[in-house]
Amino acid sequence: MKKFKKIFFWFLVGFAIIQFIPVDKVNKPVDQNKNFAKVEKTPAKVEKLLKNACYDCHSNETVYPKYAYIAPFSWSVKSHVNEGREHLNFSVWKTYNKDLKESMLKKSIQTIDNKVMPMPAYIIYHDEANLSKEERLLLSNYFKGVLDSKKY
Ligand code: HEC
Repeated sequence: MKKFKKIFFWFLVGFAIIQFIPVDKVNKPVDQNKNFAKVEKTPAKVEKLLKNACYDCHSNETVYPKYAYIAPFSWSVKSHVNEGREHLNFSVWKTYNKDLKESMLKKSIQTIDNKVMPMPAYIIYHDEANLSKEERLLLSNYFKGVLDSKKY
């Protein structure tokens, strides 16, 4: 029992100490004229789905959940956000060239249809990102429409 108490004590100390490791949660300023939804004139209904399901990791408009303030969860959240933005950042959509846009539109359709995106672990804590079958179809068809229009 004594040993357990000791381990628990040091666990608490460790947990307290890691809270001081800083995690940068300041979003870069967003130029709406480069933002996907503005550039592509996305209908409000679809924009809402995008914001609810994708923008936390794929834009500079990330809204951090409460658990993102507690280490070590904060590290995992931040690493997903960094990685997500690196792959696809809707906030700088206008700066992408046509090939990259085409590739991202195609991949977005694929990942939504295959239920790879939004990340399944994220959905557990974000009800609004738990897209229904209809919402998934709406979002994926919207991306298909943009792709087919060739006006991106
Ligand atoms: C919790 C964070 C998170 C959310 C929410 C999220 N993504 Fe991702 N996404 C990632 C990460 C991390 C990667 C890179 C690693 C990977 O491919 O799994 C990624 C990769 C991608 C890629 C692949 C890009 C490439 O270069 O191959 C696409 C496309 C994508 N996401 C689209 C979406 C769409 C569309 C949504 C909303 C329906 C969404 N994501 C929601 C974190 C997220």
